[in-house]
Amino acid sequence: MNQQHRDLIERDRKVTFHASTHLRDFAHGDAPGRVITGGKGIHIVDKDGREFIDGFAGLYCVNIGYGRTEVAEAIYQQALELSYYHTYVGHSNEPQIALSEKIIALAGPGMSKVYYGLGGSDANETQLKIVRYYNNVLGRPQKKKVISRQRGYHGSGLATGSLTGLKAFHDQFDLPLAGILHTEAPYYYHRAAEQEGMSEREFSQFCAQKLEEMILAEGPDTVAAFIGEPVLGTGGIVPPPEGYWEAIQAVLAKYDVLLIADEVVCGFGRIGADFGSHHYGIKPDLITVAKGLTSAYQPLSGVIVGDRVWSVLEQGTGQYGPIGHGWTYSGHALGCAAALANLAIIEREGLTRNAAETGAYLQQRMQAAFGEHPIVGNVRGVGMLAALEFSVDPARRAHFDAAHKVGPRIAAAALDENLIARAMPQGDILGFAPPLVATPAEIDEIVARAERAVNKVTDQLVREGVVKAAMSVS
Ligand SMILES: Cc1ncc(COP(=O)(O)O)c(C=O)c1O
Repeated sequence: MNQQHRDLIERDRKVTFHASTHLRDFAHGDAPGRVITGGKGIHIVDKDGREFIDGFAGLYCVNIGYGRTEVAEAIYQQALELSYYHTYVGHSNEPQIALSEKIIALAGPGMSKVYYGLGGSDANETQLKIVRYYNNVLGRPQKKKVISRQRGYHGSGLATGSLTGLKAFHDQFDLPLAGILHTEAPYYYHRAAEQEGMSEREFSQFCAQKLEEMILAEGPDTVAAFIGEPVLGTGGIVPPPEGYWEAIQAVLAKYDVLLIADEVVCGFGRIGADFGSHHYGIKPDLITVAKGLTSAYQPLSGVIVGDRVWSVLEQGTGQYGPIGHGWTYSGHALGCAAALANLAIIEREGLTRNAAETGAYLQQRMQAAFGEHPIVGNVRGVGMLAALEFSVDPARRAHFDAAHKVGPRIAAAALDENLIARAMPQGDILGFAPPLVATPAEIDEIVARAERAVNKVTDQLVREGVVKAAMSVS
């Protein structure tokens, strides 16, 4: 590492509180830092000039890839004209209007209006307020509970961190808040092993039955909404088992429970459709978008409100006056300009189609490389989302002892190969979500580097006696 890079990291250690970081180790120099200075296509570069393939598109958000001057230009041009004016009491800006039209057209029939925020967490916070308001206007003040799923990820605020179903986001924060519940995750690989012999469809029915039992136990007149990602993301990159969304939606309809589709990861092409909901036949009442909306060139999120909810919101303001909700930066002109430029690139370059086609190639290559690997229990994914779940004994789907930190070690070995893949926060799972511009040749390179990393750690585990010598791959 060059001196300039070291100096920058030293300065950073003294003054910055980093997300998802071991705070003490980082502040005291015991955990590594890195300063990223640029990027092009699927690559990023650090202060040493070292180039990495970003196999996770930042945090599954830089869908059009790095260094797109067209987006920079759109932001610049908009800034010359108008960077900001608030959007309260009916004020607007031109990019906001064009973007709302675009989003509503992409989202499809039944979607009515867009409310903007800056990130996925604040958008889901808006969702929770909408759900409360909706039921208050309808004269159902008891109907307020929200059901999320174990391993769901919906943000890290107090309320949205409560929606998130991951332990690390609750412990020491006194979460989840009251009124937020978690039902069975659609994690066939884990649970079908326990429920010996269950087919995917049977497991989907089992998840729906668990949801129904929860609604009945709580009282249907107290349950307002269900929130889920079309594909479970940060909880492990787990596509739903066959028939899952159909079975879940039947239960929600039966008890008049709103469905919020959290499309923060899936929205705008990632799994080969404009929305994950389209791919899985989900008919949400409310949709959350962020990440791929701007490919992270500007922070921007949105809540897409469907007709059914919108009509009640209108009725509410008729009764109570202007809605008591608003962020200073809602509908920020620079964010909207970036989003328009980003969506234009996705459309012009056919990136959603590429996510379907090159994504299918990614899945195929992953299966070929890891399907029979001695420490890989499950290879899964859809479109440009993929995951490897490691297992000490794949035949029994047995987990590694968490103390061996297999996931983080493999992510570190991948980094040695100049490949960024993400050690998912719960379990030994390595996640991939390359930018949607990735070509088949780039996918080959990602898989080749991942293979070297997994093999290297497998050999270490054999030497350590954690896995059997017969499993050696070298
Ligand atoms: C599905 C989903 N929802 C919400 C969020 C929260 O978004 P943010 O980190 O922008 O607040 C994320 C972030 O990863 C996410 O994956």
